[in-house]
Amino acid sequence: MKINSFQEYEEAYKKSVENPEDFWGEIAANNFEWRKPWRKVLNWNFSEPKVEWFVGGKLNITENCLDRHVKDKPNQPAIIWEPNDPNEESVTLTYRQLFERVCRFANVLKRNGVKKGDRVCIYMPMIPELSIAVLACARIGAIHSVVFGGFSATSIADRINDSQCVAVVTTDGAVRGNKAIPMKDTVDDAMIGCPSVKKVIVATRTRTPVSMIKGRDVWWEEEEKHVTSDCPAEEMDSEDPLFILYTSGSTGKPKGVVQTCGGYMVYAAYTFQNVFQYKAGMVHFCTADIGWITGHSYIVYGPLASGAISVLFEGVPTYPDAGRFWDIVEKHKVNILYTAPTAIRSLMGFGLEYVEGKDLSSLKVLGSVGEPINEEAWQWYSKNIGKDKCPVVDTWWQTETGGIMISALAGITPLKPAWASLPLPGVQMMLVDENGNEILGGNVSGNLCIKFPWPSILRTTWGDHERCRTNYFSAYPNLYFTGDGAMRDENGFYRITGRVDDVLNVSGHRIGTAEVENAINMHTGVVESAIVGYPHDIKGQGIYAYVICESMIHDEDLTRRDILATVSRVIGPIAKPDKIQFVSGLPKTRSGKIMRRILRKIAEGETSNLGDISTLLDPTVVEDIKNGAEALK
Ligand code: PRX
Repeated sequence: MKINSFQEYEEAYKKSVENPEDFWGEIAANNFEWRKPWRKVLNWNFSEPKVEWFVGGKLNITENCLDRHVKDKPNQPAIIWEPNDPNEESVTLTYRQLFERVCRFANVLKRNGVKKGDRVCIYMPMIPELSIAVLACARIGAIHSVVFGGFSATSIADRINDSQCVAVVTTDGAVRGNKAIPMKDTVDDAMIGCPSVKKVIVATRTRTPVSMIKGRDVWWEEEEKHVTSDCPAEEMDSEDPLFILYTSGSTGKPKGVVQTCGGYMVYAAYTFQNVFQYKAGMVHFCTADIGWITGHSYIVYGPLASGAISVLFEGVPTYPDAGRFWDIVEKHKVNILYTAPTAIRSLMGFGLEYVEGKDLSSLKVLGSVGEPINEEAWQWYSKNIGKDKCPVVDTWWQTETGGIMISALAGITPLKPAWASLPLPGVQMMLVDENGNEILGGNVSGNLCIKFPWPSILRTTWGDHERCRTNYFSAYPNLYFTGDGAMRDENGFYRITGRVDDVLNVSGHRIGTAEVENAINMHTGVVESAIVGYPHDIKGQGIYAYVICESMIHDEDLTRRDILATVSRVIGPIAKPDKIQFVSGLPKTRSGKIMRRILRKIAEGETSNLGDISTLLDPTVVEDIKNGAEALK
């Protein structure tokens, strides 16, 4: 399935469009182990929507990620774990060791009543046990729902309740940089409102004191003593759900994106091997957290299904100093580094002294993901980290796409800084105008849609298929709408310009404006709020909040801090606004709709040309908001 030249890319692309079933059928048959072949490669319509890949095929993804490599190369590392503290020993798990630990923990899950089809919430820091818990769920056919460790108890509870998880896997505590994070305490708070959860399995990381409720809470290590490491894989249908991953949309509640076993496996491994031009024995370091889709696809499933060596890093790029990524590259002889523009911009700001003297000669390929990469960051990354010898692949994709959709293939297809470039084989992109008409040709821009399914397209949003339809398949008939805007040049290269809906991208994290508004509105005294994004040098986008307070018991500064505390409590620290401006009114049309365009311009500091404001119910509020924004600067 490996593409080795530009000509092969063009041939693969052509075949994937002209004959998608043969194209994906051959890839799936020749590169993976199936218990039973499929009857049909693809069934689909985008109107319900209903998409099925490898229909009737039977498999277990862990047999592809573990068992087959245990036969071929049992002693090759599968995971190299680099702890938060560089003075703590790193841990290598070979394919055999990982296999045994996954099977043992799969038996722990069974012993605690978890069955095929049950949902399991995983709330853990970046330690090997997180990958083990994910794979153990897949081994027994339980559906994992990993919740990023930075989310609050309320967010955990919402996600657990939405999919009725029966168990939670967590740790006592976590460490990130010089911060200690109370994982189990947060889970305990969440548990107050989660009646579906019968068991909480707690792995030891920090051995901070935690409460352990009899009958509900058990220690991972203790449970392991009661089981063997013999756990045959559950036979799964291609279309059985593999996991749920919650992501923010333009409406209030996060959506549980569902991926299924067969298509997701094929696409994660196919894209991993082609985009990064993976060769046997390469060390791959993806700096994302497994709590996001990037970690699912390019720390766990894509690399392991390919038999690669995947680095798992517990800490942050700036601890103990801004040279940590480069130390890890040197220490573990990393060949592929996959990170986010935010991290690059932040490390750029610390200066080259943290890069100098580090041996980065093992690097072959650099990747970027999560948000648009500006040209300055791209060049810095290419020159100072890649030493002008490593292709930089800018990969565009989404939780809903499961794997990379638009990207250069490293060293195979041409690069254009700050452009994600060409769609991968099987990916039929299209630009449309507001009315849904296709925009053809080059040097154009429009809304980014996809006209044909790929194997890891989301199948549904958990518990609410209609929401999946209205969110992604109703804006334009028979098209999947990404929510992003893009440009296309004369060579068919794409450059993503950002979200065109009410979703922000803060440090590569997706945050719905409605979610943050709901959290702020829960604060006592707040009448109404409006959130917009504004350009932020490091985070890409910052969060700007306009807040109407009916009563302010304390001064503005203290109230601001109280509001931040409320947002942290309701969603998590990642959703805290960067700026809060108190206003007496919001610019609304006569029909009561907030004109965000005006708020966005003011947040950007572009107050000279606000466009037509005559349709506002009360145009005078604009002047007040402008003055307030000036004062806040
Ligand atoms: O706006 C796009 C942006 O991130 C969104 C998807 O977010 P999420 O589901 O959290 O997945 C992030 C990691 C795959 C997209 O709709 N985005 C992602 N990658 C890029 C990007 N924007 C520009 N360039 C990218 N390479």
